[in-house]
Order: sequence, then structure tokens, then C-alpha cells
Amino acid sequence: MISYKDYPQVPEDIIADVLHSIGNYANTFDLVNQIAADTETVNKFNSQRPVFTDNTLGFPFEQSAEYYPDTAVFSFIDAPNSLKEWVKENIGPYPVNIQIMDSGNYVMPHIDEIRTVALNYLITTGNGITCIYEPTEQYKDYIAGPQMVFPKERLIKVDEQTIDNNRWHTLDVTRIHGVENLNGSRVSITVSLLDRTLL
Ligand SMILES: [Fe+2]
Repeated sequence: MISYKDYPQVPEDIIADVLHSIGNYANTFDLVNQIAADTETVNKFNSQRPVFTDNTLGFPFEQSAEYYPDTAVFSFIDAPNSLKEWVKENIGPYPVNIQIMDSGNYVMPHIDEIRTVALNYLITTGNGITCIYEPTEQYKDYIAGPQMVFPKERLIKVDEQTIDNNRWHTLDVTRIHGVENLNGSRVSITVSLLDRTLL
């Protein structure tokens, strides 16, 4: 489900910078500004806006609280410059951010916006288990995409994995994924890839 990668561990002083930067972060979820620096990516984002029909697996994101009232708070914040430089030198010229999941026992099943693959590095796991879901047989031909909330009864969990911290791994974020069993903060470094070359 995930694939571990041989990139080096992130040095302690840079992890300290990351932890410092989340000490007083504001909750943000501004993917367009943080990942989509160029027109092509912004256009892709706009083209991903879902159109809801009778054949759509999910409902508008705004209805998330109805379906998943206890979902964790998910924040996606700017990375410190030291980390941005480290990623450029050790991995490649990709956008990197910090993601934080806390104040909840799970992250609801979803498909990411803009990016195709996430190259992640967990700093703290929050004891979470990463899960992959697919539509149930009845809904298998329905359309699923970003910015949708998928009702639980339309999904079946097909895979789950406890991911090691301090190791780089890739996750296909075009599949429906989420985190279960959270009982603490799950803080990770996340590199966003717009294609599948590193998967
Ligand atoms: Fe995600």
C-alpha cells in the first residue's frame, strides 16, 4: 500500500525547526497557494472541482461534519526554509509542507487535491493506522474525487498499515485514504508530487 524509500533521514536540527514552526501555527489548508505555484497546477485544481450528480460517490466537503462529526483537525502548513533546502538537495525540486492531524481519533476518508502522490515522513505517528478504502460493490461505478465526503456505508476498507516514523514513504493519494486509531498528534513532512514517477 505504501512504499518505503531510501532517502536519508531528516537531520535532527531540521526536525527541531519543524517542531518549532508548528509551535504556534495557524490552522491553514491553503493547498492552492502552497502547492500550486504555477498556472498549470492552478488550472488542474480548478478542473478537479467536483460536479455532483446521481453518480457521485461523495457529497460536498462542506457536509463533512454531518458524515464524520469527530474527524481530526487536519492542518497543512508552510515548511521552514531549512527543510525546503534539504528536500531540494536530497530529494528534488518539489513542494514540501508540514501536515498535522490532531484533536480527533481519525482522519475521514478522502482523496487529495492537486497532488497525485505524497512522499511522507512521519515525525510522530499519533499511533494512527493509514487505511485505503474502495467503494462497495453497489457504488463501484460511482465517481469519486477530491473535495468530497464519502459516507461510511458506501466504503469498504481494503488495506491498512502502521507506518514507521523517520522513514520516507510514498502513498497514492488519488485513492480514497484516511487514518484510523489516532490517539495523539500525527505530524509529518509531506512532499507533494503531481505525477507518479516516485511512487
Ligand atoms: Fe490525504
